[in-house]
Amino acid sequence: MDRIAAIRALLEDCDQSHVLPDGAQLTDQMLHRLESIEWDSLPALINEHVRTRREGSPANLEPAPHVTVDPEGEGRGVEVLDPAQLQEQGEALLAAGRVAAFAVAGGQGTRLGWHGPKGTFPASPVTGKPLFRLFAEQILAAQKKWGHSIRWYIMTSEANDAATRGFFLDNRCFGLDRRQIMIFPQGMMPALDMRDGKVLLEAPGVPAMSPDGHGGSLKALQRSGALDQMEGRGVDVISYFQVDNPLVQIFDPIFLGLHVDAGHSSGEFTSKMASKLRSDEKVGVFALRDGKPGVVEYSDLSSEELEAVDTSGRLLFRAGNLATHAIGTSFVRRVAGEAPLPWHRADKKVACISPATGQLIHPEEPNAVKLERFVFDAMALAKKPAILEVDRDAHFAPIKNAEGEDSPASSNQLQSDLYGSWLEEAGVKIPRRSDGHVDAVIEISPTTAMTPQDLDSGQLPDAVEPGESLAL
Ligand code: UD1
Repeated sequence: MDRIAAIRALLEDCDQSHVLPDGAQLTDQMLHRLESIEWDSLPALINEHVRTRREGSPANLEPAPHVTVDPEGEGRGVEVLDPAQLQEQGEALLAAGRVAAFAVAGGQGTRLGWHGPKGTFPASPVTGKPLFRLFAEQILAAQKKWGHSIRWYIMTSEANDAATRGFFLDNRCFGLDRRQIMIFPQGMMPALDMRDGKVLLEAPGVPAMSPDGHGGSLKALQRSGALDQMEGRGVDVISYFQVDNPLVQIFDPIFLGLHVDAGHSSGEFTSKMASKLRSDEKVGVFALRDGKPGVVEYSDLSSEELEAVDTSGRLLFRAGNLATHAIGTSFVRRVAGEAPLPWHRADKKVACISPATGQLIHPEEPNAVKLERFVFDAMALAKKPAILEVDRDAHFAPIKNAEGEDSPASSNQLQSDLYGSWLEEAGVKIPRRSDGHVDAVIEISPTTAMTPQDLDSGQLPDAVEPGESLAL
């Protein structure tokens, strides 16, 4: 049977024959795309996510247990671990070259309104360094500290892969060796008509596709050869982070030390959390769903669950997901192979051709079901996942929206606040406004200091003036 006939047979079997009308002209690229779709899995997905739909928040939700290195945790009933011991374990891991950096950067960044891969967004408050450069500088600093090259894996999507590669080449990989960076695209899923589950088309024979979610990263790591490469080089821990957070600590010894601490973690999936600032803050929270650990998205919690407090008056579901995980390579192999993650439904507006007229339509209301996988669903598959509470101010300044919360402006302030506090620790006088925020614009490159202790006090000013800009 030739390739076209084989595809037609598959489409017929899953009731999607409209995708390839008689006489449709197929290029090799179109055929390749059609062949990349797992057609036989579609009918079950359509039944589960389009025809029927699980509504409301999940049953039996409880807060997920976590640990901390903050001595005050004890008063809050949280298990307090010895930071020195975890640090030592994490440093040994880093010194042995067992950690690779992994950025998920396949998202579309629509909320920010930035035309281009999000990693190219100017994110540092004084010099406007793009996110990718800030991460590269962390890798450069870590290489210097640990004395060996560190691999960096970046997951893109079809829509931004070429632009991401171009940006790295134009910027000479920010001083890293091109061979230590591997960029690979994630998988794609067809968008489905929300009325009947039919695959939406951009043109006859061309399904409208979208990225399969950051949970697709586990399969993409395997498919791209990244996992083989890591294991071949003695890397067994993946430091996973999102492209939108300039303050992510990619090489955090305490966190990595917890990941390999057999008493608290199976070395499969370890995450960072920080308390939510307010009940309506739009972050996911770590929780046990029917006893299984994972993340429940803000939009899946009822207003009672969002507002619920514990006996000490703190939010019950406060464990905000910072989207920073340490993941074991053998665990990725297992999940990518035998234990695929569940799909989640999102209702979106997708331009498509009308089956009636054949004309391209741009819907005003959501018309499509997009299916995505979430990486944190893998937590439930780990034997002993661990969650570490961290100081939010030192780890999290996301850029998601054009304005307001999680915007470039709020992220810049958070970065100035953090680096201002580092300088204060080193004896520099820092101006603060009445609301406590630093009244200056400050950035410190990871190549200058990865921690406040790395600052060379001989090189620092005595004071920063109100409104001053300082880049170190
Ligand atoms: C995410 C988390 C939320 C967490 C918050 C912290 C989800 C569903 N929610 O929310 O629990 O509190 O971050 O900042 O993840 N990406 C891909 N491919 C895709 C989709 C996304 O690589 O197909 C990447 C994006 O490039 C981005 C990251 O995943 O780096 C987050 O994606 P996004 O969908 O924007 O999640 P948030 O709503 O920010």
